[in-house]
Amino acid sequence: MATKLDPWGAVSIDDYSKLFEEFGISSFEEILPQIDDPHLYMKRHIIFGHRDYQSVVQAMNEKKPFAVMSGFMPSGRVHLGGKMVMEEIIWHQKHGGDAFVAIADMEAHSVRGISWQRCKEMGIEEYVLSLIALGFEPTGHIYFQSKSQAVRDLAFELAAAARFSELAAIYGFSGETNVAHMVSVMVQSADILHPQLAENGGPKPVVIPVGSDQDAHIRLTRDLASRMRKFLVEEREGYVSLRGKAAGSDLIEAAAAHLKEMGYKKVKRYEEHIDVFDAKDAGRVEELMREFEVEQGGYGFMPPASLYHRFMTGLTGGKMSSSKPDSHIALTEDPEEAAKKVMRALTGGRQSLAEQKKLGGEPDKCTVYELMLFHLSDDEDELKEIFEECKSGERMCGTCKKEAAERIKQFLTEHQREREIARERLPEYGIKK
Ligand code: TRP
Ligand code: SF4
Repeated sequence: MATKLDPWGAVSIDDYSKLFEEFGISSFEEILPQIDDPHLYMKRHIIFGHRDYQSVVQAMNEKKPFAVMSGFMPSGRVHLGGKMVMEEIIWHQKHGGDAFVAIADMEAHSVRGISWQRCKEMGIEEYVLSLIALGFEPTGHIYFQSKSQAVRDLAFELAAAARFSELAAIYGFSGETNVAHMVSVMVQSADILHPQLAENGGPKPVVIPVGSDQDAHIRLTRDLASRMRKFLVEEREGYVSLRGKAAGSDLIEAAAAHLKEMGYKKVKRYEEHIDVFDAKDAGRVEELMREFEVEQGGYGFMPPASLYHRFMTGLTGGKMSSSKPDSHIALTEDPEEAAKKVMRALTGGRQSLAEQKKLGGEPDKCTVYELMLFHLSDDEDELKEIFEECKSGERMCGTCKKEAAERIKQFLTEHQREREIARERLPEYGIKK
């Protein structure tokens, strides 16, 4: 059966490996050894897949410019799932990335019917404060979609390259879909590509950390990025070929002249393409043509990279959802309440103590263990110990839950204190209440 990744609907992704084959998402494991100081989510295989992330790792390792970008729809309370994306953004910022965060008010307004006033309140109260509290630095950029002229302009430009039929195929849009919803999809693509605009330093690798339900957006945006290119560089056997996609013959002529200026001697120009016979690989030509394209007023976009993380299970089993209060823990939740939710959470424990001692628990089916894994333990040894003690039947769910409940209480108390400090710092981030 075909897996459906639907950003707005319910997703059930039980077998992540399917995503590799069906959608061409690459496995994260292969790239992990190249990362110096990996985030816990990387080490713990919570981040399981990526597209093109090697472009970002290379920039990070060579201290070249790169960016990280993601967005949040201000449509409900921010919970532990949102915290995951925030942590990934902040990790990349700490590792040298220019960081961009969109508060997707245009999406919330057009798709969920939320008023602009509410979008603003929720954007700041829920998302921005927690993002800052978790360590987002003011060198990064937090913006509301509706307030960014650059993003709106780019969205319009991208819309000229997108067709209704493909949006319909990707998102299931029909004649009944409101047009602003379609516009908001273009705005999201613009969010993703605008870190590469000239005003933000031009083309560079950009990573978008998201849940795997957002992959449809990423694929569309990668497509649009390449449609905006004026040239297509391809490696052939023994030479490099350059195709002018939307480039007229003047631009082809200028491109050939540019390549000669840059030292290539065997440059042969045809009507709509150029062959470079003394180029060893496409990489260098690609880079030169990207720069040239930008000089000529083009975008020169690189296809955005992405990271995909596993979703947390809801505390009551099933999907963690902001519309089911008992399934999630909000970052703004009363810490005592949160602790109670943990005490009620679904565990991988057995029917009786005797059985638990005999058979051991099932930590891989336990939402309390998942909380530890995703949020409440940063110590690999400790985690391993919990896992093994559980499996061997030494660990009992009652005490285990108490421990997790205590930790969540502490975390939230501390986080909420940080949020109040963040509130005072909003002006540093250019945000007015
Ligand atoms: N559509 C995303 C959501 O539903 C929010 C979003 C808006 C976003 N712009 C983005 C995510 C850019 C990643 C990148 O949560
Ligand atoms: Fe989960 Fe802890 Fe019970 Fe094991 S002992 S099933 S980890 S709550």
